[in-house]
Amino acid sequence: MSKQFDVVVIGGGPGGYIAAIRAAQLGFQVACIDEWKNDKGGPAPGGTCTNVGCIPSKALLQSSEHFEQAAHHFGDHGITLDNLKMDVAKMVGRKNTVVKQNNDGILYLFKKNKVSFFHGRGSFAKAVEGGYEIAVAGAANETLTAKNVIVATGSNARALPGAPFDEEKILSNDGALRIGAVPAKLGVIGSGVIGLEMGSVWRRLGSEVTILEAMPSFLAAADEGVAKEALKAFQKQGLKFEFGAKISKVDASGEGVVISYANAKGEEQTLAVDKLIVSIGRVANTIGLNPEAVGLQLDERGMIVVDADCKTNLPGVWAVGDVVRGPMLAHKAEEEGVAVAERIAGQHGHVNFATIPWVIYTSPEIAWVGRTEQQLKADGVAYKAGQFPFMANGRARALGDTTGFVKFLADAKTDEILGVHIVGPFASELISEAVVAMEFKASAEDIARICHAHPSLSEATKEAALAVDKRTLNF
Ligand code: FAD
Ligand code: NAI
Repeated sequence: MSKQFDVVVIGGGPGGYIAAIRAAQLGFQVACIDEWKNDKGGPAPGGTCTNVGCIPSKALLQSSEHFEQAAHHFGDHGITLDNLKMDVAKMVGRKNTVVKQNNDGILYLFKKNKVSFFHGRGSFAKAVEGGYEIAVAGAANETLTAKNVIVATGSNARALPGAPFDEEKILSNDGALRIGAVPAKLGVIGSGVIGLEMGSVWRRLGSEVTILEAMPSFLAAADEGVAKEALKAFQKQGLKFEFGAKISKVDASGEGVVISYANAKGEEQTLAVDKLIVSIGRVANTIGLNPEAVGLQLDERGMIVVDADCKTNLPGVWAVGDVVRGPMLAHKAEEEGVAVAERIAGQHGHVNFATIPWVIYTSPEIAWVGRTEQQLKADGVAYKAGQFPFMANGRARALGDTTGFVKFLADAKTDEILGVHIVGPFASELISEAVVAMEFKASAEDIARICHAHPSLSEATKEAALAVDKRTLNF
């Protein structure tokens, strides 16, 4: 006997679980199906983000940053420590506890909002009168029927051809988050977000980390000035980069992993490491979804085809998050989930792609919103730039972390903020002010005229806004 719902959500990551909660808030009968299992085989909702992404990576970044501070920076504060040690098993255990707290939190939220949770794999069975039948294969096999289906099945790590993940020596994000002991030599392929965050964790704990990147330049999506400053800082910390690397072979048959590649000059090189993280992007996941049963359209890369409103080619079927176009970010998935639930309710949910912030949680942190200088130039937009270094900010000096700057880009004529780019301490938190400002179509002068607490890092934001008009006060 099929169970009837108004909305069935397939996938319980940030796109899916948030869509389910919002739909329930709007008065719908909602089911959410998620297949992720914890180490005891129980449900672990939250998707990539909670289990092997945003949350565990930030837990390890925090632990390793504490170690780095204790090892190299406490001395500046007059604190000396003897016999400093890192217990990697404990660090990973703490990370697992943080993950579990988040899994449990989502199960609690489902109960609170009366979302029916089904632990198992959801797949399209067939279209039926007025909706769709979804089969759930899990601890119990069920059939659900709903007029509206939201697909939020996320993404998986992309493997290098000829080098499948074994999660022992060739690691995806999953294996990279549960390395049991500090590898003496760690290789990373791809100097994107995961490569930088995971490379930083293990570099801080003592690994010699080499990152091989195919592109000739660093962090092409970031503002060039920010990328340059960040690269300088990472190299100073000891991360080694090889740009323009063309990987020809990954051999894991011996004790470690040997990577053969041609460098930017075309010279053949080999790199021998104990473990290799491959972080070269992610692919949309529709494994087991059975889209053919209902004729759900995928593109040539395997993504579900949607319009600007996350509508698929099928009436009543929507898709959000990593499985569709757009940046693969948890907050983008969440925004789409909320908007779709509201659209199902006849409301006008909206996601503003122009103000989605990006954050890389390295040290220094990197965060931006809006367009970069190179994009504005390419778009032929006349702009003014203003930059303020953390070196001239009192709070940053007190923290002992003066790397980087805040940079504003504003329209040359109207002064409207077009982009804000930050490299430095707590950039992840500072960027929110810029997002709010851009949502409200603020000018640089608006920010320059707002009172910011002293001493705070946010004064660097105000000063960068002042710099657009060439009138910084502290620099
Ligand atoms: P997912 O989180 O992938 O969730 C999909 C869920 O659907 C999974 O639980 C999966 O098991 C389930 N599922 C799939 N198919 C089925 C099926 N047929 N039936 C039932 N269940 C199914 N983003 C940020 O914004 N900030 C960060 O700091 C950040 N850090 C990251 C760090 C790492 C190491 C990685 C890998 C990613 C990180 N991301 C970060 C990206 C972020 O994790 C994703 O953008 C986000 O998880 C996408 O959410 P989603 O709901 O679309 O998919
Ligand atoms: P990415 O797209 O950020 O970076 C991939 C890098 O690998 C690029 O620099 C690319 O040029 C390089 N590359 C691709 N093929 C290569 C090859 N064959 N050899 C060498 N280099 C190659 O992808 P990544 O790091 O895997 O992360 C996936 C996604 O997860 C990110 O794009 C982001 O959306 C999300 N994420 C977000 C985080 C955050 O918001 N802080 C943290 C981690 C991941």
